[in-house]
Amino acid sequence: MDNMQIAITGANSAVGTALLRHVAGREELRAVAAVRRPEALAGLPSSARITGRLLDYGRPETLRDVLAGAGCVVHLAGVLFESGRTSYQSANVDTTHALVDAALEAGMPRIVFVSSLGADPRSPNGYYRSKGEAEGLVTGAGIGAAIIRTPLLLGPETAGGRALLRDAARGSVRVLGGGAHLLQPLDVEDLCRAILRWCSNSAPGARTCELVGPTALSQRDLLQRTARLLGNDLTVRTMPIGVAKLAARCAGLLRPGGLTPAVIDVITAAETVRRNADADLGIELTPLADTLERLVEASRR
Ligand SMILES: NC(=O)c1ccc[n+]([C@@H]2O[C@H](COP(=O)([O-])OP(=O)(O)OC[C@H]3O[C@@H](n4cnc5c(N)ncnc54)[C@H](OP(=O)(O)O)[C@@H]3O)[C@@H](O)[C@H]2O)c1
Repeated sequence: MDNMQIAITGANSAVGTALLRHVAGREELRAVAAVRRPEALAGLPSSARITGRLLDYGRPETLRDVLAGAGCVVHLAGVLFESGRTSYQSANVDTTHALVDAALEAGMPRIVFVSSLGADPRSPNGYYRSKGEAEGLVTGAGIGAAIIRTPLLLGPETAGGRALLRDAARGSVRVLGGGAHLLQPLDVEDLCRAILRWCSNSAPGARTCELVGPTALSQRDLLQRTARLLGNDLTVRTMPIGVAKLAARCAGLLRPGGLTPAVIDVITAAETVRRNADADLGIELTPLADTLERLVEASRR
């Protein structure tokens, strides 16, 4: 990759944190790391190659500032769990709308958008629908774009990685549907390599790809493998999905967001893809055993 500046939204996210480590380690890269809170700004890694910026999606001039001089923008802001303050519309759709508008105005050559397997603007599931709508905004902009649909991401900072370690360290854990659904977890480092590949790809038009990890296994097996690495004897019990959804619906009457029926559908969906993008991207996927070793090691530090 030639010298390049990339702009990253949601730079304090788990993926952003990993991506900034790649930037800090590569001579030819610089990044403008955009976050929306001063505390997040203060928490960004310090490196001569990383410049932190506060971003307010309702103020286009702050977006202009973030995009100035960049050859590519990586859009990472987004949520799976809604809350009283953050909805799928505001986090997944509105941020993308504001970013695409600003990218068009700035003449930005390239957008990389991290989406989700299952994204579909016609989905009855609010999360998948919002990611599908956001994808439509990116592909419809007429800018060089890459959309990477991802499964469960594993890394020391990801919510999935932390939950896996926490559950695998218990004596017994109750999981949705007995953890029978198939996962194909992706190492967050592999996603970062894919993002950087796309940033330097100058092919015109928009491409959508699905990138998953090298191993398909049930959630139950993933938990047991991680428990064995921790030296733990784990018993996996079943939480029926129907019961969990009923409980989620009742909890939602008191407090919006959190573990909703929509989230339950997302986290129990099979993560199978027709064609994995690793070969097209020229990326060698990290073996699952190495990803889990690294997770466990990081938890011991
Ligand atoms: N982690 C996964 O397994 C996974 C799987 C598929 C797709 N993805 C997608 O990949 C991207 C990065 O995921 P991640 O797990 O690294 O994210 P993360 O750690 O949960 O961080 C979420 C980021 O989105 C920002 N954000 C949340 N609500 C926002 C709003 N209303 N307006 C603007 N920014 C908002 C957060 O900013 P604050 O800190 O200020 O709240 C933070 O920077 C997300 O778009 C996610 O949907 C992740």
